[in-house]
Amino acid sequence: MGDIRVETAGRLMTITLDRAAKKNAITDAMYGDIAAALNSAAGDPGIGAVLIRGDGPDFCAGNDISMFAASAAGESDISASHVGPFLRALTTCPKPIVAAVTGRAIGIGVTMLLHCDLVYVATDAQLSTPFIDLGLVPEAASALLIPTRIGHVRSFALFALGEKMSGAEAATLGIANKALPAEEVGAAAEAAARTLAAKPLSAVIATKALMRDTGAIEAALAADNAAFIRQLATPEAAAAFAAFAARKGPAA
Ligand code: COA
Repeated sequence: MGDIRVETAGRLMTITLDRAAKKNAITDAMYGDIAAALNSAAGDPGIGAVLIRGDGPDFCAGNDISMFAASAAGESDISASHVGPFLRALTTCPKPIVAAVTGRAIGIGVTMLLHCDLVYVATDAQLSTPFIDLGLVPEAASALLIPTRIGHVRSFALFALGEKMSGAEAATLGIANKALPAEEVGAAAEAAARTLAAKPLSAVIATKALMRDTGAIEAALAADNAAFIRQLATPEAAAAFAAFAARKGPAA
């Protein structure tokens, strides 16, 4: 699999975003591969937990912006991409998902954490959701889920002002379980995932199901998907994608 590594050891499946040169920004193919891995974990009675991590210093710089740009230019249809299957697999995965976050987590790199069951972050990690600066709206049901965790005004500052949240703040505010020195995050997340994977699986699955309002999440996903597709077609979004593409151009 290009740009994603999937490894199984005992009852634990580890999915590694393996595109460090691009800060692990997620392409359409990567969404498809992650969805396939999560669906396989969901259906495999031998898997008790999934760990998601990023290769290199940064967890994930969000959606690959060239994918947004192609959709905005009418060259591809994001509704026909693997984003939908990825979000379905992530939000309906019956097995517990653990995330290990260091460095930068941007956009979907943050919003996917809201669907994880345990999150370990580096104290100095930087979480940001600059959707409005990109002319977009928050995705992955995050407009519902982040305010539920941290309140409206803090969420609005993240979405609209593009404020960054440190890993330490994320742990204090309940987006993450624990903030640790960066070099300890991977081992702590893996240890927790292994512990989870050894628990009575049917009880873990039943507990996760009881704790998640899947109807509300499904409705929020449908609403933000519709708004996201509308925003992709706006001149503001096209200008933001062009600005990102041009910032390292000859004149930059
Ligand atoms: N989509 C596509 N490519 C991305 C990317 C993204 N979301 N994030 C980073 N990259 C690429 C850069 O274009 C660069 O590619 P290049 O080496 O071919 O020029 C490479 O990853 C390294 O990133 P760079 O910008 O050089 O590193 P940096 O340390 O200066 O900045 C970021 C890192 C993450 C702050 C910056 O790349 C950035 O702002 N990325 C966009 C984040 C974003 O808005 N994501 C979407 C959220 S919805």
